[in-house]
Amino acid sequence: MLHFFLLISAAALDEHEAALKQDSECTSAECTLSALQLLGTWKLNSAATTADLNADVAVDVDGDFSNSSSDFPLYGYHHWATTTMYGDAPRSACGGIDTHRLVQGTRYHNVASAQSMWRNCNGNGACWCGQAGGGSGTTGMGCLSCAKGRFLRSAYGQKGKALYSLAQEESEDESEDPFMSEEIIVVVGDLCPHPGNEDWCPNRAGLKNAYGSFNHLDFSHYPNSVPHSRSIPNKNFVFSRIDCPGDLKQRYYSMSHCR
Ligand SMILES: *[C@@H]1O[C@H](CO)[C@@H](O)[C@H](O)[C@H]1NC(C)=O
Repeated sequence: MLHFFLLISAAALDEHEAALKQDSECTSAECTLSALQLLGTWKLNSAATTADLNADVAVDVDGDFSNSSSDFPLYGYHHWATTTMYGDAPRSACGGIDTHRLVQGTRYHNVASAQSMWRNCNGNGACWCGQAGGGSGTTGMGCLSCAKGRFLRSAYGQKGKALYSLAQEESEDESEDPFMSEEIIVVVGDLCPHPGNEDWCPNRAGLKNAYGSFNHLDFSHYPNSVPHSRSIPNKNFVFSRIDCPGDLKQRYYSMSHCR
C-alpha cells in the first residue's frame, strides 16, 4: 500500500492509520476477489446483466462549452471527478480483462469508475460488465466508456485535503495554470465498488462522495506528469466523454468476456 499523505506528525499517526483504512482503495488482490465474487453473481443473472456494449455510449458534445450549472471550475470540460490510484487488476469487473494488458504500450489510461456511474449496480456493486448509468448529476461511465481530460493542481474534491489528515497543509500554489497534466484519454476497464471505498465511490447515481464529487475515477496509474512517487496526490480531474478510439475498442473486445 502506498502512502497517501506526505506530511504526517507523530500525533497524527492514529488519524493517518484511520485515514488509510477509510480512504485506501482495494489492492489488486482484493479487487480480483471482488471481481471473482461478482462473476458468481453474474453467472446466476447472466440474462439480466449481459450488456451489448455498443448500445448508446454517452458522448459529450464538443465545442465552445461552459457548464454554468457546475459550482466547480471545469475549464471547458463537461464534468469533474476526484481520483485515487490502485494499480492493476488481473481479472477486472469488465469481463475479466487484465487492466495492465488493456492499455499496455498505448497512450491510454485504465480507470475504475465509481459504481454510481454504472447502470444497475443494485447498490452493492454487482454489476459485472455494466454499461454507463449515471443521472441526477452523476456522469454515466461504465465498461468501455472513454473520456478525454486533464488533471488539475487542486486535490481532494471540494475539501482540498484528506478528510482525516490534520497535518497536511492545503498547498498554496502560486501558478496561474490550473492544469497539472496534459490531456489524456481514459478508458473504464474496471469498477470501483462502494463497499470498501465508501469515502470515494458513491453507492448510486445522484449521491456525492465525501469530497463533494458525484464522479470518481480510480486510476490504475497516474500519468508521469502527476508526481506520485512519494504519495498519492488525489488530484481532481476534469473531463468530457468521447467515443473510444478504434484501436482501444479492438483491444478491449479481444480481451473482455462482456458482450
Ligand atoms: C454540468 O455539471 C454538472 C455538475 O458537475 C453535471 O452534473 C452536468 O452533467 C454537466 N452538464 C453537462 C451538459 O455536461
